[in-house]
Amino acid sequence: MTREALPPSTTGVPRLRGIAYGGDYNPEQWPEEVWPEDVRLMREAGVTLVTVGVFSWSVLESAPGVYDFGWLDRIIGLLHDNGIGVCLATPTASPPPWFSHAHPDSLPVTESGVRLGIGSREAYCPSSPAYREAAVRIATALAERYGSHPSLALWHVNNEYGAHVASCYCDVSAQAFRAWLRRRYVTLAALNTAWGTAFWSQRYGAWDEVSPPRLSPMPVNPAQQLDFYRFSSDEHLACYVAERDAIRPLSPGVPITTNFMATNCPNIDYWSWAGEVDVVANNHYLVAEDPLRTMGLSMSADLGRSLARGRPWLLMEHSTGAVNWQPRNLAKEPGEMRRNSLAHVARGAESVLFFQWRASQRGAEKFHSAMLPHGGTATQIWADVCALGREVGVLGEIAGSTVRAEVALVWDWASAWALGLEYRPSRDLDAAATLRLYYQALWRKGVVVDFVPPGADLSGYASVVVPNLYLMSAGSAGWLARYVEDGGHLLVGFFSGIVDDLDSVHPGPHPGPLADLLGLWIEEFHPLAEGATVGVGEGLCGSVWSERVVLAGAESVLTMGGGPDRGHPALTHRQVGDGAAWYLATQLDADGMGEVLDQVLAEAGVRTSQLPADVELVRRTCADTAYTFVINHGPDTVEVGEVGVDVLTGVQHPQGLSLAGGGVAVLRSTVS
Ligand code: GAL
Repeated sequence: MTREALPPSTTGVPRLRGIAYGGDYNPEQWPEEVWPEDVRLMREAGVTLVTVGVFSWSVLESAPGVYDFGWLDRIIGLLHDNGIGVCLATPTASPPPWFSHAHPDSLPVTESGVRLGIGSREAYCPSSPAYREAAVRIATALAERYGSHPSLALWHVNNEYGAHVASCYCDVSAQAFRAWLRRRYVTLAALNTAWGTAFWSQRYGAWDEVSPPRLSPMPVNPAQQLDFYRFSSDEHLACYVAERDAIRPLSPGVPITTNFMATNCPNIDYWSWAGEVDVVANNHYLVAEDPLRTMGLSMSADLGRSLARGRPWLLMEHSTGAVNWQPRNLAKEPGEMRRNSLAHVARGAESVLFFQWRASQRGAEKFHSAMLPHGGTATQIWADVCALGREVGVLGEIAGSTVRAEVALVWDWASAWALGLEYRPSRDLDAAATLRLYYQALWRKGVVVDFVPPGADLSGYASVVVPNLYLMSAGSAGWLARYVEDGGHLLVGFFSGIVDDLDSVHPGPHPGPLADLLGLWIEEFHPLAEGATVGVGEGLCGSVWSERVVLAGAESVLTMGGGPDRGHPALTHRQVGDGAAWYLATQLDADGMGEVLDQVLAEAGVRTSQLPADVELVRRTCADTAYTFVINHGPDTVEVGEVGVDVLTGVQHPQGLSLAGGGVAVLRSTVS
């Protein structure tokens, strides 16, 4: 199929057809003589889209208002002549030295009052008016010049907002924080009540007395810290929106986005960002030494798709091999890059893009892998990149197909921030780690999940799992109750429903607004000592947490076999019409969690996979066609009952598929 004949992407990027292939390209780091070779090799590899300009501010604007667009004109022209689409980045993730020298107060300040220096990247305070003005100016200049360029497919604003400087604690940020608080609370009296400032003599008599949660002798007021998290995420978002709104009228019809790090940027509330981008773009890097790195990839991809509300999304960055910033930067194993890329596509990605096109020779990232490594075209990586490019081209026919999940995992950044603050019952409480444990148990069963924020539409899910929602408004509890009343099957993990949006403990016994729904209350928490475990039911093992559950309508399904709550419920169940509410009062390992989930999913009618845990099976569908991705991460051949034609090879598998270790197949079949 020619690329023109491929189905248009439903990512909302009109110029993308099929699955885009390519990566970050930094021509400004190379002499121009190299460019024709770059473009020739891009064509050889099947590259269709490159991101240019992402850290090029000092080259584009060498002094205030002094622009050099000549090089960018030439490279965009060359890419255009070669049929390669452009994702044009605004360079605002790295202000040039002249800017920081002219505006020293735009440099970010840490919690302990240290002003960060220049010489790296992301050295700006998101609340700095000078930074925002300069960022909008360069974005506008780019949009004026390239907004209607025929090869412009997509705008890429900034880069990974909040990745390195999550929050700034400078005086300018303090002022912006006060303005944000005034909008939220209107009166100082309301703020004093909301933050509970009667505690430790923190009552504020004037707005100017309020500051960011700077390093203090003891933990800063948790409500203040929580609001500062929210403020900081919003400030970064305001930077994005300012650039986006400047570009929009100058570049009609060209979508605008920024790249997220869904599972790796804990301080950005991507639920509030997702509606502001025209297409969700996500970055993911394997944690090379993590034996569960493949699962981490799936989780990032599922969260990316969930942020896109089920629509196809773009994989904006991953790596061909080793990165340069982990303690030991392990190369990928043979075939791993291909499996990684296709696993993202299986979970809804409509692009396979890498950081970066050509490995740099200088600078901090010179030992990072690339599509074109230092060793050039005589390398395995290059051969693999070209082979993958061909496969991505063939896979173009799946564009627009979507993934449907039967199970939803509830995830809320604000709750995770709140749980992570000081002085909780145990330092082992970690919302992201708990989420990962539940995800792992589901992933091993081959259950594809969506992530949802509190308040989302749950009507399509047979089962909803809340690994932890420490922070939960009464409204969220009502939302879960309605889901169960409507026949849904809910599983809630311990230490959920404890505080409201301001980290104030809900009145009455824990778990406040969830008590009625779950049919129980908690008499006392019994967090476990480091390394301590308690037996649960027949042969399961709990750690981190135990608590005294008092039944009030629910029945006990599993009992604590030891520890401070021996003989008391560990897993409970409350039937509500056709639905049910389950509650788990300790932390089980992935195997134990798997056993609990077996019961919950069986009751909900969710089927689990019988394949080995290291074989992923994910389905994308479109009208009456199903594309079943089977990815064998293990070393052994597996027999898979699925039938169809492998889109990658054209081979028919009418009796089922025999897939070699490390292999991938994408079976096309007709669904009735
Ligand atoms: C990403 C970033 C890229 C590059 C890459 C290295 O987080 O967006 O610019 O630094 O990491 O792995």
